[in-house]
Amino acid sequence: MIMFEDLFQSTTSVSLLVVLVLLVLQFFYSSFSSKQQREPPGPKPFPLLGNLFQLDLKRLDICLLNLSKTHGSVFTIYLGPKKVVVLAGYKTVKQALVSHAEEFGERDITPLFHDINKGNGILFTNGDRWKEMRRFALSTLRDFGMGKSLTEERIIEECHHLIKSFEQNEGKAFNNSQTLTYAASNIISGIMFGRRFEYTDPVFQAMVERDRELIHLMGSASAQIYNMLPWLGPFIKNWKTMMKNIKENNEELKCIIADLKESLNPEMCRCFIDAFLMHKLKLEESEIKDSQYHEENLVNSVMNLFAAGTDTTANTLQWSLLYMAKYPHVQDQVQEELIRVIGSRQVRVEDRKYLPYTDAAIHEAQRFANIVPVISSHRMSQDVIFQGYFIKKGTSVFVLLSSVLYDESEWESPHTFNPSHFLDKEGRFIRRDAFLPFSAGRRVCLGESLARMELFLFFTSLLQRFRFTAPPGVTEDELDLTPVPGLIFSPPPHELCAVSRH
Ligand code: HEM
Repeated sequence: MIMFEDLFQSTTSVSLLVVLVLLVLQFFYSSFSSKQQREPPGPKPFPLLGNLFQLDLKRLDICLLNLSKTHGSVFTIYLGPKKVVVLAGYKTVKQALVSHAEEFGERDITPLFHDINKGNGILFTNGDRWKEMRRFALSTLRDFGMGKSLTEERIIEECHHLIKSFEQNEGKAFNNSQTLTYAASNIISGIMFGRRFEYTDPVFQAMVERDRELIHLMGSASAQIYNMLPWLGPFIKNWKTMMKNIKENNEELKCIIADLKESLNPEMCRCFIDAFLMHKLKLEESEIKDSQYHEENLVNSVMNLFAAGTDTTANTLQWSLLYMAKYPHVQDQVQEELIRVIGSRQVRVEDRKYLPYTDAAIHEAQRFANIVPVISSHRMSQDVIFQGYFIKKGTSVFVLLSSVLYDESEWESPHTFNPSHFLDKEGRFIRRDAFLPFSAGRRVCLGESLARMELFLFFTSLLQRFRFTAPPGVTEDELDLTPVPGLIFSPPPHELCAVSRH
């Protein structure tokens, strides 16, 4: 809770006054300078508060979509004094992120992002550090089988644990959210730490839960307020919770890293952490100075990959199963195809091309779920003239992914769950340009191929084994699809039955 009495104590009130004066000056300066060159249009801002009164910070995605209808596909809003350029619609987003990849490809390191990784890791870094950490992560993930059979084996093994856990509910209704999160987390844990965890392991449960809460709070209105007025941090309960979670996960990861360091064997690289430590040793031996391979970059890269690789995949899976229960005619067709093409044997990645309807249903679930409707973390790396508008270096950029995945000029029925979006007239799978749930350009999701493999194998293995239905007494129509907002949009809390098909 914000304690306003404290804000008006002597020293604080002087700094408050200075901040206010600076903000007013900044506002008038930016309003004045924007007259010189044509900047993207937008709703008229109030001094200091900008457009805050016109925006619902909890459902920024809906507000921004509505504003794009009035102001076009490139427009400006002010979050308090902070100027933000919003990109909407497939053509504009693609043009910005792909054709102007360099200019639109920088991360906006807000005060909150800085608090989380202190300038280390992959997600919230720029420049040489980001380049080196991203390159290393991508090549190591590939070495450890991202898109290859090693990871396929790991996911298949995890499918067995997941199925066993679902079976324990004996067809009765249950909330599958936690179990799916543990399963997804175990895949990235396998790559990061060289091991999986039991779903009942309290240390693992706590780590996953802290990340989940963190991701949820990062998308909250108070996170936006903190970014506008960071000195309010100590008075914001959600900020304190986020910092506590970060600290505890940091300590947990440092323990895991210390254990792996102790048993490090240069002859046998077991995981991402081993690969990083070995690379670090090699650089030290050749006396290379100022290397990026230090402990803080390791801890924060692992933290980024663990967090970014868990809830995203788990949430998408949860949405997919909910859609199967909500749209049983789609589930019928997926299961018919699985029986006809695969039978009861284990599905493999190479089967995907023989399962066009199933593949289309998974893609449509990702499109429709739209779990990251707004990417609110890009920034201009340099001045640009874009679609005739001047956008200044350093301006924050929001990418409205929902306007791409629901673009009315790209999709036949954007607001309906319709796997045919990904099928041609002959029932063959077709790729769609506007399918960008992983974003595009320089900052495109680093785990895309891993996530795609996980979604395919988990989804098909579960659908082979179970029929997903609404709980007894609840009709399909009553299954609610209103998302819970956050940095990642998750399904509302719900229960489903997983009824054994054998
Ligand atoms: C369904 C699953 C997933 C979805 C929908 C998803 C989506 C996204 C999106 C929208 C971004 C932001 C891109 C941008 O800023 O333009 C992103 C970034 C990122 N994702 Fe994913 N992701 C998923 C799974 C994963 C997995 C499994 C991993 C880990 C291996 C991962 C690691 C990352 C990282 C490290 C970044 C930051 C990249 C950078 O800043 O250079 N993601 N993801």
